[in-house]
Amino acid sequence: MRQCVVAVALAAVAMTGCSGTPSPPAAADAPSPRKVNVAHRGASAYAPEHTRPAYRLAIEQGADFVEQDLAVTRDGILISLHDASLERTTNVEEVFPDRFTELTDQGQTRRVWLANDFTLAEIKQLDAGGWFGPEFAGEQVLTFDEAIAEIRGKAGLFPELKAPELYAERGVDVEGLVAEALDRHGLRGPGADPGTPVILQTFSEATARSLVAKAIGVPVVLLISNPDGWDTPAIVAGWKAAGIHGIGPAKQILLKRPELVQWAHEAGLTVTPYTFRASDTGTFPDVTAEMAHFLDTLGVDALFTDNPDLFPRR
Ligand code: G3P
Ligand code: CA
Repeated sequence: MRQCVVAVALAAVAMTGCSGTPSPPAAADAPSPRKVNVAHRGASAYAPEHTRPAYRLAIEQGADFVEQDLAVTRDGILISLHDASLERTTNVEEVFPDRFTELTDQGQTRRVWLANDFTLAEIKQLDAGGWFGPEFAGEQVLTFDEAIAEIRGKAGLFPELKAPELYAERGVDVEGLVAEALDRHGLRGPGADPGTPVILQTFSEATARSLVAKAIGVPVVLLISNPDGWDTPAIVAGWKAAGIHGIGPAKQILLKRPELVQWAHEAGLTVTPYTFRASDTGTFPDVTAEMAHFLDTLGVDALFTDNPDLFPRR
């Protein structure tokens, strides 16, 4: 099945296939593993992020995996939402004008409508599409369960555990909720559903290590936004020794320090940089050329893109 082949490709550096059994090292003349196209928040260049249209379009455009960012409602339901708060991608300010929290940062106070302060029933009243374009007005915030149902069997899932500190402060066990959700859908464990590979991701090394320790049974990718703190091969190898499956560096880090790809591969880690979008290609002529540079010249295994249709499929 296509997704199983893709999962094997992304797992190839770690040499673990869909079955969870070790694969033999590739022969020198073996074809390169298929590179993996991860739709960042769905096909988010063309449809409002994390909505049903964004996920459907990502699959139509050939994404191998569709990313979810996860938040938790007041009543403990996982939802697909990038920010911890709702105001950027919904009309929460209109619907619940008084339900904000004031945050002060460096002397500046701002109002935020934290998803964790709203029940799922309240969040389902919000318009999560109109901000992007009138044709998407009325799209709802999706639960993780709904996202799984939408994507299952058509692509893999790549959920990110967001804001672990916020949820820890509030006594919310996000890792447990994710494990329960995967259990509920029969997606926990290596190759549980060969048509729907699952990879977890987080920017928090503590969360990554905790997920590994919980033996959820799916790979864990550690995202890297800090250009420092990993600057020896031994540190990178230490992540592999801790059971982490791969790294997800900001693309700018790899442009400055391309040796990180080699260190990761030597340690047996996959490399999945973020985020490639047609609206921001730096010095590259277009996003396809930019993605090709990372895949072919720098040798990454996969990448997150808002434009899965422009992925340079070979
Ligand atoms: O998770 C990979 C990439 O999505 C990280 O950035 O802020 O879009 O979640 P962000
Ligand atoms: Ca993300």
